[in-house]
Amino acid sequence: MDWISSPTSGLHGELCVPGDKSISHRAIMFAALAEGTSHVDGFLEGEDTRATAAIFARMGVRIETPSASRRVVHGVGLHGLAAPDGVLDCGNAGTGMRLLAGLLAGQRFDSTLSGDVSLSRRPMRRVIEPLAAMGAHVESEPGGLPPLRIRGGSALRGIDYELPVASAQVKSAVLLAGLYAQGETAVREPHPTRDYTERMLAAFGWPISFEPGWARLPGGHRLRATDVVVPADFSSAAFFLVAASLVPDSRLLLRAVGLNPRRTGLLDALRLMGADIREHDVREQGGERVADLEVRHAQLRGIDVPVALVPDMIDEFPILFVAAAAAAGTTAIRGAAELRVKESDRIAVMAKGLAALGVRIAETPDGAVIEGGPIGGGEVDSAGDHRCAMSLAVAAALARAPVRIGDCANVATSFPGFVELARGSGLRVEIATGR
Ligand code: S3P
Repeated sequence: MDWISSPTSGLHGELCVPGDKSISHRAIMFAALAEGTSHVDGFLEGEDTRATAAIFARMGVRIETPSASRRVVHGVGLHGLAAPDGVLDCGNAGTGMRLLAGLLAGQRFDSTLSGDVSLSRRPMRRVIEPLAAMGAHVESEPGGLPPLRIRGGSALRGIDYELPVASAQVKSAVLLAGLYAQGETAVREPHPTRDYTERMLAAFGWPISFEPGWARLPGGHRLRATDVVVPADFSSAAFFLVAASLVPDSRLLLRAVGLNPRRTGLLDALRLMGADIREHDVREQGGERVADLEVRHAQLRGIDVPVALVPDMIDEFPILFVAAAAAAGTTAIRGAAELRVKESDRIAVMAKGLAALGVRIAETPDGAVIEGGPIGGGEVDSAGDHRCAMSLAVAAALARAPVRIGDCANVATSFPGFVELARGSGLRVEIATGR
C-alpha cells in the first residue's frame, strides 16, 4: 500500500493516539501468566500486539474483547500454558519475539517463534546468549536469525547479566526467564532503558528490585491478576509533535500521552531545537506519568543530539530526521547504530528517503548529519517500516509538492487509524489508488 502525502498549512485540534505498544504487549503476557482475571484498558489494536494476544490464545489462555481497545485476560498461572499446536507467529514484533523467547524458555513444552520478512532479518543472538547462560536451549537460523526453536523442560538458573547493548527487550527476556529460574536473576544495563517489565512485574505482585540501570528478581513466585490502564503511546504522539512544530500556524493538543522518562528523549531534543511543547494536567495513570501535550509551531534550530538521550528516544529517530531536515542549520546524530537493526535500517531508509526529497543528509555508521533546508516532492520508499512511513508523511506536509510513499501497510502494526487521525488534524495523507 502506497500513500500520497501533500503539503499542508496549519494543523489543529485535539487528538487521542492509540495505546502504548510496549505496555500492551507486556499487559497481555503478564495477565496470561497471572492467577485470576485481569482487565486491560487502552490496549493497542495493532497487528504487533494482536499477534502477541493470539499467541497466548493458542497456548490456552482465554482472552475476551468486550470492545475495541479492551481485553479481559483469564490468566492460567505461571505453569498453566498449554503446548501450542504449531509455529507461533510474532508478525513484525521484535518485542513479541524477544520477550516470548525468555518466557517460553521456562516452559515444559517445545515451541517455535517466527516472524515476517523484516523480523526474520533481526538479530536474536542478543537474547539467545544470555538465555543459554541460564541453561535454556534456543536454536536459530544461521547468523542468529529467526525462527527461534525453544526446547522446553530446561532447568533454568539465575544469572547476573551485564547487557552489551542498551535494550529493554533483551533485559525483559532475561527477567522473564528469571521468573522460571532457580535463584536470583540480575541485569545491568550500559544505559537505563524503558522499565515497563520491572514496573508491571511489581504491579502483578512479583518481588522485584529495580533502579534505572539495573533490576533483580528471585525465581519461583506467583503473578496475581491486576488491571492495566495503557496510556497513549508517546512514539505515536511523536509524529504529531513534530508535524505541528514544523507546519506554520499549527496548534495541537494530544490527550493522555505516556511520559515515562525512558521514552521522552525526543521531547528534550525538540525543546533543545526550540520547540514549543507544553505539558498540561500532568497526572498518574496506572502507575505511569501521563499528560496532555500542547504543541505549537516554532522555528526549529539544528543541534548536536546529546548521545545520552539516544536510548530514551530510540524509536523516534525517523521523525527526528524530519525535524532536522526542516530546522535551520545542521543536526548531528551519533551513537545510534541500533537504528540499523530495527524494523528496517532506519538510518539508511530515512537518509535515502530524505535525499530523494532534496534534503542534504550524510549517513554515518551510527547516525547522520542533516542540513536543514527546503523539502521537495517526489517518490520515496518506507521499506515497510511503520515509523519511516509516518515520518516521511510528515516530511511531505512541508514539501513543495506531493510525495508518494511506498510500502506503508505496516503502519497497522503500531498505529491503526493513522491516516484518518492525521487527516482530521489537517495532514493531507491519503491511500494511493493505482499508479
Ligand atoms: C521495546 C524496546 C526497544 C524499542 C522497541 C520496544 C520494548 O527495542 O525500540 O520499539 O518494548 O521493550 P530494543 O530493546 O531493541 O532497544
